[in-house]
Amino acid sequence: MKLTVKIQSIEKISTDALIIGLFEKAQKMRSVGNVESLQQSVSDMVSVDGFKAKLGEITHVLRPMGMAVKELVLVGLGPEEKFDEEAFTRAARAAFAATRAQTVSVLITDWRLENKTDEWSVLQLAMAAGTAFEPLSDDDRALLDKRRVTIAVQEKGVALVQAAKIGEAIAQAVNRAKVWGNLPANVCTPTYLALEAKKFTAYKSVTVKVHDEKAIGKIGMEAFLAVAQGSREAPRFIELHYCGAAKTQAPVCLVGKAITLDAGGLCLKPSAHITEMKYDMSGGAAVLAVFEAAAKEKWPINLVALVPACENLPDGAAYKPSDVIQTLSGKTVEITNTDAEGRLIIADAITYAKRFKPQAIIDVATLTGAVEVALGSDITGLFVNDPVLCDMIETSADVANDPVWALPYGGRRFRELLKSNVADCANTAPRGSGGGSSTAATFLSQFVDDDTPWAHLDVAATAYRGGKNPHSTGRPVPLLMMLLHQLATLAE
Ligand code: BES
Ligand code: MN
Ligand code: ZN
Repeated sequence: MKLTVKIQSIEKISTDALIIGLFEKAQKMRSVGNVESLQQSVSDMVSVDGFKAKLGEITHVLRPMGMAVKELVLVGLGPEEKFDEEAFTRAARAAFAATRAQTVSVLITDWRLENKTDEWSVLQLAMAAGTAFEPLSDDDRALLDKRRVTIAVQEKGVALVQAAKIGEAIAQAVNRAKVWGNLPANVCTPTYLALEAKKFTAYKSVTVKVHDEKAIGKIGMEAFLAVAQGSREAPRFIELHYCGAAKTQAPVCLVGKAITLDAGGLCLKPSAHITEMKYDMSGGAAVLAVFEAAAKEKWPINLVALVPACENLPDGAAYKPSDVIQTLSGKTVEITNTDAEGRLIIADAITYAKRFKPQAIIDVATLTGAVEVALGSDITGLFVNDPVLCDMIETSADVANDPVWALPYGGRRFRELLKSNVADCANTAPRGSGGGSSTAATFLSQFVDDDTPWAHLDVAATAYRGGKNPHSTGRPVPLLMMLLHQLATLAE
């Protein structure tokens, strides 16, 4: 998708399609103004079609009179008094997904909220334009590759152009993550992900290191290797550096879980659940996509991305319940459940992250099924040890329309649940303890220093949609992109 911001009046717009937003029961279209012929052709159409302008409702007007466009895409914005951020996004996405036109325009005048700036609207429209197709099919991708979108504005400022650029970059990164997430486990192997990451050397100031099994052993990531040892797929530890700011500036470290198939190990999952576990690399995919975007857009920030990638399978060589494993940190862990593998590989990656003295560590993982019980399937679980970072993540989530909710972890009560008689801790709490997402976060927190701001995003319920038409959503790419953007602007 190529996005431009342009000063243009409605009659002059000559793209194949033009999106027009309409409020329920509105007499006149805001953006149409005094183009009488257009008002007429639209109201005729609306009365024939029975279009009610309900939120997200779509109707098409072909070859509207008095205009240069081939197609009007009318989208319902719902009742005007209920038009909020949520309604905005739903309507905008519905509209962009409703046409296969190669060139599409949209008028900012249709897309304004009372308490929001035009920059906000442009950012939202850009994100919606680029991410509207979900699930994202190969045809949709081909269309997006060719698609040109114009946002017609009244005044063209630097801020608007920048907002469009960020929105476009976010959309592109979301789609990257979606594509990786949707790949089957026999294609999207640890080796495949590492090869994808290797391609990032094409960007300036990027270094890519891929650690193979031997190198991972040399580092001492035994918890990671324990998870990988039941699989014939070679594990990979992907380490990426991007230096977009002064070398003296501490990097932000992103850590992403990439279990390319989680069968549960010897604590085998029920087969119906195993197919879905190809999405268990979504955290890693999000981290790779965000890293690539920052490097490509040359954001003034230093980044380290760490992606431990392997499979979790049952096998004669697999790690076993009751095993005691030494993590990279030196802490020993009793394996009480081989299906709690994500926390083991993330723990070792977090420990590894410390050597870069990062200003913050953010890990992204499809870590627990319990997060869906806690928050439903639209909100990502957030666990964070620092109020400033918490605030920044919440703000980013809000702007990016990628919601999170902070949950508790740590403390005496949760720690007690992870006690072990044979090791420093167990990898799971006793069955039936409840609070599975919080105990998982508590496990991870043992590998973080209190003085390093750390956040853990549990995206098990948000990184993909299950059910009849399962597909990857690319979350939490939008929130991570906004966060990095915020951090980059702060440091400038
Ligand atoms: N990858 C799963 C978590 C998951 C579950 C992601 C459902 C998406 C949908 C993770 O490795 C896992 O198996 N977690 C266990 C933890 C338990 C054994 C303490 C879980 O959630 O059941
Ligand atoms: Mn598991
Ligand atoms: Zn898993």
